Amino acid sequence: MALIFSVLDGRRHHRGDFTCGVAALDDYLRQRAGQHQRDGIATTHVLIDDVQPARILGYCSLSAAQLCLRELRAEDRKRLPAYPVPAIRVGRLAVSKSEKGKGYGLLLLGHAVNLALSVRQTLGVRVLVVDAKDAQVAAFYEGFGFRRTATAALSLYLPV
Ligand SMILES: CC(C)(COP(=O)(O)OP(=O)(O)OC[C@H]1O[C@@H](n2cnc3c(N)ncnc32)[C@H](O)[C@@H]1OP(=O)(O)O)[C@@H](O)C(=O)NCCC(=O)NCCS
Repeated sequence: MALIFSVLDGRRHHRGDFTCGVAALDDYLRQRAGQHQRDGIATTHVLIDDVQPARILGYCSLSAAQLCLRELRAEDRKRLPAYPVPAIRVGRLAVSKSEKGKGYGLLLLGHAVNLALSVRQTLGVRVLVVDAKDAQVAAFYEGFGFRRTATAALSLYLPV
């Protein structure tokens, strides 16, 4: 079985079957992700496999963002110009309930980093940013290398 990342396509991916345990994240995928993609608000990337390519194992949605310079730790601010730091926001990230604990959450974050590095060939991107919904999820992001911002405990960033 091969794992594949793909941009969400409502004709190919079964959004209605996806359940991660957080209703707001299920509803987002089912009801708003497609519209946000068409409107240029967020692009959703799904993780699927080649055996059942319609089944969404996990997803993340990404948007252009910025972070105030003062949110970065002093060591991450070095040599940066005195204006907002260009960023990509991981607006939502979720893994199907039945697939948790297999490393798919980390794979999705890795994919977001790869996309940021790819975007950086044409557009400046310094950090990925994310707002964790609680301290436990913040710990998940910290496990990947995200750092807490200076002002909000549940807002984190990852230099890329
Ligand atoms: C959080 C979530 C995306 C993690 O996905 P996952 O595929 O189960 O995570 P992984 O298997 O990649 O786990 C990677 C590591 O993070 C840890 N981890 C997983 N979920 C965690 C959580 N909720 N809190 C803290 N650590 C967590 C794992 O123990 C693992 O650590 P290890 O490598 O030391 O064993 C998933 O549980 C989920 O979809 N939760 C519901 C939605 C949600 O809360 N999304 C975040 C929105 S802010």
